[in-house]
Amino acid sequence: MPDEIEQVLASLDGVVDPGEPVDELSHALQAAGLAEAAGADDELVVAALLHDVARSPLLPDGPHDRVGARWLAPRLGERVAWLVGAHVQAKRWLVATDDYPLSAVSTESLRTQGGATADGLPLDHPWWPAAVRLRRFDDAAKIPGAPAPTVADVLRIVARLA
Ligand SMILES: [Fe+2]
Repeated sequence: MPDEIEQVLASLDGVVDPGEPVDELSHALQAAGLAEAAGADDELVVAALLHDVARSPLLPDGPHDRVGARWLAPRLGERVAWLVGAHVQAKRWLVATDDYPLSAVSTESLRTQGGATADGLPLDHPWWPAAVRLRRFDDAAKIPGAPAPTVADVLRIVARLA
């Protein structure tokens, strides 16, 4: 299984969400590094790493939060999958309830994701606070040249969950 994660991470190298300043591999590694630095548990670090896994050309098309969650559930468990599946909802909530900065690309996609709202979101779910933490790591993980763990570093954490 860590092999599969390694392959999917490699497939994100050079994949750019048009308008974003870093590619998906850098974004994933920076997000994982921010989670680790914040003292997140292994599952949250790995969810941060793989929250945009559906951007991989190896995964099917579709809403990237749900496609990612479906791919991750059998591989890394229900909590990692749930956190990834909630990261768009967490964005909608943060923008609705906080003075929350988003990149231009993310502001644009917010419209097709249903807009800013607190309605209908799983705010009482025991994992919701971790989903909001993940979202903050996500949006901070777009800085060209920022320090980040290596693929080997993060695969060691993945291996602890496998
Ligand atoms: Fe992201």
